Amino acid sequence: MKCRKCGQTAVINMRQHRLALCQNCFLDWVPEQVQRVIEKFHMFGPEERVLVAVSGGKDSLALWDILLRLGYQAEGLYIHLGIANGGYSDVSQQKVEAFAASRGAGFRVVKVLQEYGQTIPQVSRRKRGRSTCGTCGLVKRHVLNQVAGEGGYTVLATGHNVDDEAAVLFQNALRWATGYLARQAPVLPASHPKLVRKVKPLIRLYEREMAAYALLCGIDYIYEECPYSRGATTLFYKELLNQLEESSPGAKQSFYLSFLQARDQGRLLPAEAREVELGECQQCGQPTTAPGLCAFCRLWA
Ligand code: AMP
Ligand code: FES
Ligand code: ZN
Repeated sequence: MKCRKCGQTAVINMRQHRLALCQNCFLDWVPEQVQRVIEKFHMFGPEERVLVAVSGGKDSLALWDILLRLGYQAEGLYIHLGIANGGYSDVSQQKVEAFAASRGAGFRVVKVLQEYGQTIPQVSRRKRGRSTCGTCGLVKRHVLNQVAGEGGYTVLATGHNVDDEAAVLFQNALRWATGYLARQAPVLPASHPKLVRKVKPLIRLYEREMAAYALLCGIDYIYEECPYSRGATTLFYKELLNQLEESSPGAKQSFYLSFLQARDQGRLLPAEAREVELGECQQCGQPTTAPGLCAFCRLWA
């Protein structure tokens, strides 16, 4: 198969776009897609400092690489969760460090054990009723927001791709979880002075494309999924959507992008657009809907 742009041998065929590209054209095409998304959704500008949440996986490292290539002020934040099985957190951190060193990019690490006295598996063992992933998500959201705010960043970027977003959408739509559906957006504006804007610049790219991009750029990333992977359910929905995609190329992307369009045009969930009242946590000062302590502070109490 030949590259549609230059006629050289193609390295990837993207059936949903009817587009085959060679290595060089693909490595140009991916950042172009990301730039279009950043502009279309008014995510951020070159004058802003962007904090990239990097897990050591392909998506977030590739995102960081792309933002640097596009000339944005992008710095990384890695949260060491203390997940020891097979050295998962240590190995992920090494991947982040190696990437940052190779690009001369600034990054910081927050170690949950050092900061809060317990690892994620330890604290979640004490908390029945919340899964390890649920606890982990709560801690990550808190730390990301806190570091972004204190570091003077205005934007926080994560590496969610089409596959991630479509799987979450599928999961929420099956339960008509309208509250979650209303908040599933490429950009979440800062709804409180202590919150930063959250953006997902990879929402037009498939997981497979991100893997190809990371591989072709020589980005060394962690292949393993987290051993506590919420995986089980999300991976199952991803698999179902991939089966659909197989027989109907583009179905995955269209499912998600047409949802965004319908919602933004007010054809879905109009009643959910209401604002929630946010107070401040008495201990850490971060915004919360709970009276007294936020869920994060209650976790360690
Ligand atoms: P996940 O929830 O693991 O699918 O990850 C979604 C996004 O959250 C990733 O693309 C990263 O941007 C971010 N992320 C996940 N884990 C970490 C971590 N340990 N430290 C910083 N950011 C993370
Ligand atoms: Fe948080 Fe697996 S990454 S529990
Ligand atoms: Zn708090």
